[in-house]
Amino acid sequence: MSKQFDVIVIGGGPGGYIAAIRAAQLGFNTACIDEWKNSKGGPAPGGTCTNVGCIPSKALLQSSEHFEQAGHSFADHGISLSNLSMDVAKMLGRKDTVVKQNNDGILYLFKKNKVSFFHGRGSFAKAVEGGYEIKVSGTTEDTLVGKHIIVATGSNARALPGAAFDEDKILSNDGALRIPAVPKKLGVIGSGVIGLEMGSVWRRLGAEVTVLEALPTFLGAVDEQIAKEALKIFTKQGLKIELGVKIAEVKTDGEGVAVNYVDAKGGSQILSVDKLIVSIGRVPNTIGLNPEAVGLKLDERGAIVVDDDCKTNLPNVWAVGDVVRGPMLAHKAEEEGVAVAERIAGQHGHVNFNTVPWVIYTHPEIAWVGQTEQQLKAAGRAYKAGSFPFLANGRARALGDTTGLVKFLADAKTDEILGVHIIGPYASELIAESVVAMEFKASAEDIARICHAHPSLSEATKEAALAVDKRTLNF
Ligand code: FAD
Ligand code: NAI
Repeated sequence: MSKQFDVIVIGGGPGGYIAAIRAAQLGFNTACIDEWKNSKGGPAPGGTCTNVGCIPSKALLQSSEHFEQAGHSFADHGISLSNLSMDVAKMLGRKDTVVKQNNDGILYLFKKNKVSFFHGRGSFAKAVEGGYEIKVSGTTEDTLVGKHIIVATGSNARALPGAAFDEDKILSNDGALRIPAVPKKLGVIGSGVIGLEMGSVWRRLGAEVTVLEALPTFLGAVDEQIAKEALKIFTKQGLKIELGVKIAEVKTDGEGVAVNYVDAKGGSQILSVDKLIVSIGRVPNTIGLNPEAVGLKLDERGAIVVDDDCKTNLPNVWAVGDVVRGPMLAHKAEEEGVAVAERIAGQHGHVNFNTVPWVIYTHPEIAWVGQTEQQLKAAGRAYKAGSFPFLANGRARALGDTTGLVKFLADAKTDEILGVHIIGPYASELIAESVVAMEFKASAEDIARICHAHPSLSEATKEAALAVDKRTLNF
């Protein structure tokens, strides 16, 4: 006998679990199926984000940042330490605890919101009268029928051709988050978000890190001025970043990994490292979903084809998060999940892709929302720019963290904020104000006229908004 639901969500990452909770809040009888297992084989909902993504990477970034500060900045504050050491096993253990707290939190939220959770793999069996039959297999064996199906099956790391992940020497994000001892030499392929975040973690702990990037420009999606600043800072910190390379071959032996590549000048090079992180993007995941059984359409990249409302080609089948088009970000997945649940309820759920913030959690952090200067130039949009350095911000000086700047881009005529770009301390938190401002179509002057607490880093945002009109007060 199959179990009947109004809504079945396949995948319990940020897209799926949030969609399930919102659907349940709206009064739907909701199930969520997720197959992720913890080390004991138990359920570990939260997807890539909770298990091998956002959360564990930020835990390690925090630990390694403490270590770096203790070694480099504490002395300026009059704090002296001797025999500073890093217990990598303890750091990894703490990270695992943080992950488990999040897994348990989601299981609690399912109970609280009366979402029925099934631990196993969900796959389409067939279309039935008034819905779809979904098979659950693995830890739990079940047959469910749902009127609406939300697919949120996420993404997997892309491997280099001929260099499959073994998670010992050639590491995806998964292996990169559990290297048991600091490698002497670490190679990273791809200077994107994962490469920079994970490269930073292991560099701070003492690894010699070399990053090989195919593109000739560094962080192409980031505002050019900010990307240039970032490259300077990361290089000074000790990350070796080589741009414009072509990877020819990756070979492992008992010792480590050898990467043969052609450098930007056309010379053949070999990089020998103990471990290699490959972070060259991610691919949508539909493994085991059995989309063919119901004719669910995928594109040539393997992503589920959806319209702006996350509707697939099938009636009452929706898809959200990394498995569909758009940026692969947890908060984008969540917003889509909420919007879909609300659409199912006949409401007007909405996701504004123009105001999805981006953050790279390096030190300093990089955060932005809206358009970059190069995008505005390419679109021929008349704009004004204003920026303010943290060097001139009192709180940043007190923190001893004055690297970076806030930059505003506003429409030349209307002064509407078109983009805000930050590199500096707590950029991840500071960007929220600009997201709100853009969501409300604020002008740079609106921000410039708002009272910001003193001394605070947020004053740099106000000053950058003032800079648009060339009237900074503190610079
Ligand atoms: P996922 O989180 O991938 O979840 C999909 C879930 O579905 C998984 O649990 C999977 O096991 C399950 N599943 C798949 N197929 C089936 C099936 N057939 N049946 C049952 N279950 C199934 N984003 C940010 O916004 N901020 C960050 O700081 C950040 N850091 C990151 C760091 C790293 C190292 C990585 C790799 C990613 C990071 N991301 C970050 C990206 C973020 O993790 C993803 O965008 C987000 O997890 C996507 O959510 P999702 O729900 O679409 O998919
Ligand atoms: P990415 O898309 O950020 O970066 C991949 C980089 O690899 C690019 O610079 C690309 O040019 C380069 N590349 C591609 N093929 C290459 C090759 N053959 N040789 C050398 N370089 C090559 O992808 P990444 O870092 O793997 O992360 C995947 C996604 O996960 C991100 O796009 C992001 O959406 C998400 N993520 C988000 C984080 C955050 O929000 N802070 C943190 C980590 C990941």
